[in-house]
Amino acid sequence: ALYCSHALVLVTSLQAALLAPLPPYGLPCDLQGLWRNELGSNMTISALDVAGTFSGSYQTAVAVTNKQILVSPLQGAQQPPGTKGQQPTFGFTVQWQFADSTTVFVGQCFVDRRGKETLEMAWLLREEVPSRKDTWKAIRVGTNVFTRVK
Ligand code: BTN
Repeated sequence: ALYCSHALVLVTSLQAALLAPLPPYGLPCDLQGLWRNELGSNMTISALDVAGTFSGSYQTAVAVTNKQILVSPLQGAQQPPGTKGQQPTFGFTVQWQFADSTTVFVGQCFVDRRGKETLEMAWLLREEVPSRKDTWKAIRVGTNVFTRVK
């Protein structure tokens, strides 16, 4: 009976460890570095300044038109990691260098208990259209998941 209760405690604590969310005071999530999303797009984010603002570059793997893709600058801002958590929210704008469109990304940096970081992002792309009548076809929306390359 003693053996049995030990086994039960082990299984229960294993379940708790696997199912419990990351403690909010876990490993910090660092935006700086090279990231890749599920489309194969790469982005580099520079060091954040004291205000949480940053710049970087974005090399998209896909585009709306078949124009030659060019590496494009991005500018963003991150909320300071709070007292509760170190998985900050942030956003950035990409000013495409080969198209008249603009994309904004917003998301959150998550870290698992092994320190692996994932950026869970939503994006909105606005295409330039000749007139307001065309607004209905000017907006695309989606999500991207980035993992660290370097
Ligand atoms: C354009 O074709 O107008 C500019 C390039 C847009 C690329 C989009 S932005 C959202 C999505 N995520 C990517 O990595 N690429 C596409």
